[in-house]
Amino acid sequence: MSKRNKLVKFSENLSFQNVFENFSYKEVQLYQQVNQKVDFKGTWNQNYFKRDSPLVLELACGGGEYCIGMANLFPDRNYIGIDIKGARIWRGAKTAIQNNLSNVAFVRTKIELIPHFFENAEVDEIWITFPDPFLKNSKSIKRLTSDFFLDTYQNILKPNAILHLKTDDSTLYEFTLEVLNHRNDYKILEFYNDIYNLPEIPAILQLKTHYELKHLEDGRLIKYIKFQKSN
Ligand SMILES: C[S@@+](CC[C@H](N)C(=O)[O-])C[C@H]1O[C@@H](n2cnc3c(N)ncnc32)[C@H](O)[C@@H]1O
Repeated sequence: MSKRNKLVKFSENLSFQNVFENFSYKEVQLYQQVNQKVDFKGTWNQNYFKRDSPLVLELACGGGEYCIGMANLFPDRNYIGIDIKGARIWRGAKTAIQNNLSNVAFVRTKIELIPHFFENAEVDEIWITFPDPFLKNSKSIKRLTSDFFLDTYQNILKPNAILHLKTDDSTLYEFTLEVLNHRNDYKILEFYNDIYNLPEIPAILQLKTHYELKHLEDGRLIKYIKFQKSN
């Protein structure tokens, strides 16, 4: 994508009412529509979605295909896609607007910062879709299922909240199972190393992101782990 094209998308993000952006580590603050500071921490349902429904996050949402797919499948739930890349967030936000999906929004931020934007026990469910595997061991702390990130999710999740990881990457899949097995604050509910080989695949698992489609084209197997916050 050309630099100009990206800049057009960044500026359009500032006009979308379903996009919230944090621009800097120094000022941890969400902005909506140009210069409007907003704070929905603890009140996303009440003050943004204006209804009390389960609140579901998609982390590393990229172009938001999973969020959009889930928002269509489950209109009674509220979805927020989170990613740091503005041009990808633009794709999801634009699709939501074009499809009149009022139950999905997007937050552009580093995932490390989400406790600033969500209150303790505000979130019902988390999906982590095809996150970067950060294959070098020295970078494993950056994996979205490292102890650092699992600690980060603990506070914002409700008791017994469900989390899902979809990945094509064996290293990340094995790493996540190992991390979860060593913790007593999460329990593994299901894990499959090739979901499309299951006798029955739930509709929600059949949704496909941009990266999943590329991985399937390359003949890669899609892995899935479902786990739960313990109490
Ligand atoms: C491989 S892409 C997957 C995107 C999308 N889920 C898909 O499957 O098409 C990984 C995404 O994770 C985002 N990402 C990785 N680490 C992140 C972090 N710490 N905070 C925010 N976004 C992050 C990247 O910006 C990128 O869009």
